[in-house]
Amino acid sequence: MGRRRAIIIFGPPGAGKGTQAERLLRDFALEHIATGDILREAVANDTPLGRQAKQYMDAGRLVPDEVIIPIVEERMRTVPGDRGFLFDGFPRTVAQADMLFDAARRVGAPVEKVIYLRTPAEVIVTRLASRRICRRCGAVYNLVTKPPKTDGVCDACGGEIYQRADDTEETVRNRLAVYEAQTADVMGFFRARGLVVDIDGGLPADESYPAIAASVGTGS
Ligand code: AP5
Repeated sequence: MGRRRAIIIFGPPGAGKGTQAERLLRDFALEHIATGDILREAVANDTPLGRQAKQYMDAGRLVPDEVIIPIVEERMRTVPGDRGFLFDGFPRTVAQADMLFDAARRVGAPVEKVIYLRTPAEVIVTRLASRRICRRCGAVYNLVTKPPKTDGVCDACGGEIYQRADDTEETVRNRLAVYEAQTADVMGFFRARGLVVDIDGGLPADESYPAIAASVGTGS
């Protein structure tokens, strides 16, 4: 049985948010709200949201707040009352952070922790150039640190493995610049509230996970 609370996993593109979120979801009663995944699904299904978001994502820019905020509010409403939230890729602006803290309080799920994966830019560029994803189940691979057993085929479901359109070096550098210009400031918002747990995102994922899990606590 879980409890109502919100955890945020935060950091620059490629810091390992999705990688560590997968471990937290295994160990704690949390529902994953990953805005990048929601948007990529909308693009794949060619929905009106997907058509609107695609131009921003392909350029490595942020989708406007007025588009993404209502989507997160709607998604929060679908989470059962006995489960917590794990936000990944959200919030990315101070306006998004304001919305999230208000909404979380309203539904009785206060933000308990912000796990900050501090990761150097050069590590990120290398990681994202070698990231691959399963088109069918979304499993994340890395040609250097976590290659699939068979080239181009997902170990978990046999689906086709592809490279994200925004993982080219040029777009990754744009995403990093956007992070510095629009998202890094959100850390000030979190620090002022005393919620931040600093983690070295440059370490191998299995080495940093115990500190992350300890900060999230028992989860019960
Ligand atoms: P989103 O999907 O959220 O992308 P991101 O924040 O750029 O983060 P990534 O998914 O690229 O990286 P990650 O930190 O999850 O790393 P991962 O675990 O995969 O957003 C995409 C786009 O959508 C945005 O650019 C924007 O346009 C839009 N968007 C999304 N949310 C939005 C919002 N709130 N507002 C506005 N627009 C929004 O790891 C990366 C690679 O490294 C993998 O290959 C992995 O295997 C490997 N790896 C991970 N950790 C380690 C480690 N510790 N050691 C070695 N390798 C590692």
